[in-house]
Amino acid sequence: MNSYSYDNVHQYIDALFLSTLRPGDKIIDATVGNGNDTYKIAKIIGKEGHIFGFDIQEKAIDTTRKKLKLIENGPTFSLHLCGHENVEKYVTSKVSFIIFNLGYLPSADKTVTTKSETTIVALNKCLKLLKNGGIISVAIYPGHYEGEKELNDILSWAIDIEQKEFNISHIKFLNHKNNPPQLIIIQKKR
Ligand SMILES: C[S@@+](CC[C@H](N)C(=O)[O-])C[C@H]1O[C@@H](n2cnc3c(N)ncnc32)[C@H](O)[C@@H]1O
Repeated sequence: MNSYSYDNVHQYIDALFLSTLRPGDKIIDATVGNGNDTYKIAKIIGKEGHIFGFDIQEKAIDTTRKKLKLIENGPTFSLHLCGHENVEKYVTSKVSFIIFNLGYLPSADKTVTTKSETTIVALNKCLKLLKNGGIISVAIYPGHYEGEKELNDILSWAIDIEQKEFNISHIKFLNHKNNPPQLIIIQKKR
């Protein structure tokens, strides 16, 4: 029997990690936050892998560094206290997976949140950094003002992305209350 549950977008993301990441992959975490996504990815890509991480909060970078150091035989990593809209300054070779977990850190200042203007600059740059077959996963939180704007702006942006090069899908729980997170999955065709 299928062992995956799909109760929320995070479970879809976990399933994506397991089905697409391979040992040795190079990946970008565009919003490291508390390092939870990066930690899961690091365990799969292992010591031959590499993580490029970005966040604009020092606390997020420090927390993530501490988590990654706990992993025995974990990947190499470079963490940048810098907005993901500058990704091309630090990542010059192609990667197989890019994760954006948008919004704010639940435990920190909620006004420090991702914003669609810079998110879309970063997404455009990330499209160019993706290997053939590679994936960008974008979790969006429409339950707060910036998140709702971000969702609408990303959906408008996605519609114009060239179908010959990319598949873009959208996961939304139609019957869940209170405006839960939604997921956009972008795959560069092989
Ligand atoms: C929902 S949290 C990320 C959660 C994280 N993936 C985890 O597993 O814990 C969103 C993060 O985006 C960061 N952020 C906001 N604007 C950013 C930007 N322009 N570039 C990179 N990170 C940004 C925030 O500081 C916050 O830590």
